[in-house]
Amino acid sequence: MPSVTEILESMDYGPAPEANGEVVKWLKARGAFGHYVDGSFTKPTHTFAAANPATAEVLAQVSQGTDADVQAAVRAARAALPGWSRLPGHERAKWLYALARGVQKRERFLAVLESMDNGKSIRETRDIDVPLVARHFYHHAGWAETLAEEFPGQGPVGVCGQIIPWNFPLLMLSWKIAPALAAGNTVVLKPAEYTPLSALAFAEICAEIGLPKGVVNIVTGDGATGAALVDSDVDKIAFTGSTEVGRIIRRATAGTGKKLTLELGGKSPFVVFADADLDAAVEGVVDAIWFNQGQVCCAGSRIFVQEGVEAAFTAKLKARLAKLRVGDPLDKSVDMGAIVDPVQLKRIRELVAEGQAEGAVLHQAECRLPSKGCYFAPGFFTNVAPANVLMQDEIFGPVATLTSFRTPDEAVELANNTRYGLAASIWSENINLALDQAARVKAGVVWINSTNVFDAGAGFGGYRESGFGREGGREGMREYLAEAPVKARAEAVPVPPETAPVPQAPVREIGIDRTAKIYIGGGQKRPDSGYSYAVAAKGRVLGLAGLGNRKDIRNAVEAAHAAGGWGKATGHNRAQVLYYLAENLAAREAEFAARLKAAGSPKPEEEVATAIRRAFWYAAQADKFDGAVHSTKTAMVTLAMPEPYGVMGIACPTDAPLLGFLSLVLPAIAMGNRVVAIPSQNMPLAATDLYQVFDTSDLPGGVVNIITGARDELAKTLAGHDDVAAMWYCGPAEGARMVETESAGNLKATCILPNRDWLGPEGQGRSFLTRATQVKNIWVPYGE
Ligand code: NAI
Repeated sequence: MPSVTEILESMDYGPAPEANGEVVKWLKARGAFGHYVDGSFTKPTHTFAAANPATAEVLAQVSQGTDADVQAAVRAARAALPGWSRLPGHERAKWLYALARGVQKRERFLAVLESMDNGKSIRETRDIDVPLVARHFYHHAGWAETLAEEFPGQGPVGVCGQIIPWNFPLLMLSWKIAPALAAGNTVVLKPAEYTPLSALAFAEICAEIGLPKGVVNIVTGDGATGAALVDSDVDKIAFTGSTEVGRIIRRATAGTGKKLTLELGGKSPFVVFADADLDAAVEGVVDAIWFNQGQVCCAGSRIFVQEGVEAAFTAKLKARLAKLRVGDPLDKSVDMGAIVDPVQLKRIRELVAEGQAEGAVLHQAECRLPSKGCYFAPGFFTNVAPANVLMQDEIFGPVATLTSFRTPDEAVELANNTRYGLAASIWSENINLALDQAARVKAGVVWINSTNVFDAGAGFGGYRESGFGREGGREGMREYLAEAPVKARAEAVPVPPETAPVPQAPVREIGIDRTAKIYIGGGQKRPDSGYSYAVAAKGRVLGLAGLGNRKDIRNAVEAAHAAGGWGKATGHNRAQVLYYLAENLAAREAEFAARLKAAGSPKPEEEVATAIRRAFWYAAQADKFDGAVHSTKTAMVTLAMPEPYGVMGIACPTDAPLLGFLSLVLPAIAMGNRVVAIPSQNMPLAATDLYQVFDTSDLPGGVVNIITGARDELAKTLAGHDDVAAMWYCGPAEGARMVETESAGNLKATCILPNRDWLGPEGQGRSFLTRATQVKNIWVPYGE
């Protein structure tokens, strides 16, 4: 026992263990767990051990879910769906409130259990994870209550398969289950194999409150169980985990019609400007990368410090690092607990060694680590080159890189120099500078002078290879709701383009020569192939269109990127151009109608008239479709801003050659995207006739690029292109499968749009604008 003098000298903490008796008792009583299916637990089979990473002690035996287990759970969820989805929102809300209260009643139990199963500190499970879990159920009870008014005409997606990781086991469960149930879906959830216990405790809460059986099903197991769930008869998959598995799931669900949301990895920038409050920023680093042992998808793992304060900041960071306490997760004064599993610890060590071999210098806390268990001392790296593995790969451990920058432009460039785009943290006392950075950084969540702030009221999710879809708030609810299905129509079969060289005689039809080129960067270009194909209707050749190929697509993507100014223009600017476009189209209404008539359009006048109205409508929306200020935490304004994806690929239907094209291109450009569009394969001339309309409407070159030719061949190149951020495809099922499979490369957001009556209301609406944007949530603190 140290004397008081010694304690005053060392200022060391004594042990402050949280009691775990209740949890130990519970684990002992259960011993082994089956799955929770159709309202009760199955008999444990094929069990594996769930262990405490801080002590290596086995906590319980858990069942490895087989295909049959997954299918039984999905059947139970399917059977429960009609009853649950037909309940009035008010009734579902009551169940969600009951779940929230069930969690609150056991908050300490759940915090301790989570800490033991995962290794995270009790301070975090008690003060962050579990309160947020309750908050999620309460918040979504509110969405259930107000669903009919807030989302008119929308209904549940159906049975949702949900796969979650091990870093925030119960919190991720709540992010998945609460919105799904609120919207009227039923679920089968698979927790991660390292951390299944809190999900099983949650299953007991479901049983205890008497939640209708089959509404929530929990199947435990590893990746094989997850893969079985992905392949099962579910209507949606919601996944959080590694980008690698996200890609596998994207490919596995391609063409199945299953709705998909992916919340994947990150390599988030943490940018400190010279005028930042450096002490606050140092505390920010603690919360950014040493929080949860760095096992956080949105961890600020790349620290960028402005050159003038680099030395001062680094010194402060080292001083703070020396004070971090690492140890028993159940000790209430411990900052950092254990890494989740020996496998993850090994992975961290290997990546760190690799980075050091590439020249990085590690500054690590010299703390005494417990002699057994999975511990890794926190730290940060200097002398890290941009190509170093530590700068590029998600480490998922308590180590960040620290490098410097000079100017705000350089900061943005460095921040965006990653394939991910989950989050960013910006530190500056200059609000203008901070908001400018927030607008320019490519990330779904931006925290100003703060980091890792979460709330059920705001959307969370990424750009680029961090996945697509949002969880939380209104944005998150949308992912669990389906609009009334459109009445799909079989489209005209695409006629394979004639690949023969251009016929000798010029083609004459309706009075003029028509040999349309492709349209790139605002100019008409010869196709790279040097070939054109004959466009015919009712047995008559109407003209020739360029036979585009992959090279043309690549050039068009480059031109679209060069037209980035369009995305930065105000909505008002874009509206003006679109109004002008609508007027110019109206001035040539008769001419377009005559051409459509010659092309065999069944309702040529109506098609043109609707296209003109649609152009006016999207012009009107360009400065009106805007975001929200979410109600989240005190002293925080959370701005939800819809942003354009950037460069979008659009493959148009073969039907309605003018209207089908404009119905897709107009909403995309109204929101600030630049587009590479493949018009109707059979009748591309209706789109190529628009060149002059675009040119006379002040539409900047490169905003719309048009490549004619074989739709699915061109769509394949677009879908696989890494510089295309989103892709819309209207075409047959095989094409949809191809597009979704190809999109897995850079995990671009895809949207499969069934062919429909483009003249009717299903051809226009806010849903197109929603699909043309991704929401960025910017958290701005206020108060001193
Ligand atoms: P993981 O992506 O393999 O695991 C996440 C979940 O997916 C688990 O429930 C797992 O059982 C399941 N799963 C694995 N393979 C599957 C498949 N083929 N089909 C369906 N489900 C499957 O992540 P893991 O291996 O645990 O961690 C590896 C790395 O991934 C970490 O070091 C970290 O970099 C990253 N990661 C990122 C997370 C995030 O939140 N962004 C969460 C967990 C890991």
